[in-house]
Amino acid sequence: MKKILIAGNWKMNKLSADAEEFIKELRAKNLPNEKDICILAPFTLIAGVGEALEGSEIGFGAQNVHFEESGAFTGEISVPMLKELGVTHCIVGHSERREYFNETDDTVNRKLMALLAAGITPILCVGESLEVREGGGEQTFVAGQLIADFSGISASDAAKIVIAYEPIWAIGTGRTATPEQAEEMCAFIRGVLSGIYDMATGDSLMILYGGSMKPGNAKELLEKPDINGGLIGGASLKADDFAAIAEAAASL
Ligand code: 13P
Repeated sequence: MKKILIAGNWKMNKLSADAEEFIKELRAKNLPNEKDICILAPFTLIAGVGEALEGSEIGFGAQNVHFEESGAFTGEISVPMLKELGVTHCIVGHSERREYFNETDDTVNRKLMALLAAGITPILCVGESLEVREGGGEQTFVAGQLIADFSGISASDAAKIVIAYEPIWAIGTGRTATPEQAEEMCAFIRGVLSGIYDMATGDSLMILYGGSMKPGNAKELLEKPDINGGLIGGASLKADDFAAIAEAAASL
């Protein structure tokens, strides 16, 4: 059976009461695949989400992290700080961070290494802009991100990284990549990683699709052989929508 992860990226949304209510509603659904679900919350909500999830198999984590363990980095959060909260997952290199917060492939690479060393599963985001896709350069662009982001990472560590293909033109736009476009890129990503490492590593990798995934289109995306789940923004904010996507994954 295909490995699956349905990950909700809340981005900069929710206050604690809303977060608690969401977790309560989600748990009440008694989804059969709780172990395949995780919630990536804003830093202020992570501890509360962790508490609300106690006794459930649903994972939780952060949307960013700093690569240094501690020190004079005002405003930053380190891997040990996340570890102390018991987080299971952390997003790295989301396109919004690459675009607005100066995230580079070099900082992404360091963050991946720091998370791997601590046993937290990184969810690495890659994906091209509309301009790159319209110019036909999307595979070259994504391969370049992968080569730089995985630099110096061993095959055994690489296999622990979840990759999320998020075409920037599909994020928050309502314009989803077609299942064929998403599958084509996810299969390509698997091939790139098989090339950097070996076939076994490529085959075992989890590759998610992200970009306007919602209850109405989740099944056709998740059915594709090289897509191991979704990284969901807008539709992860309502427990009903998010649970419907998880249910679509459970029915595969
Ligand atoms: P949307 O699902 O809102 O398009 O966001 C996708 C995303 O960026 C998840 O990380």
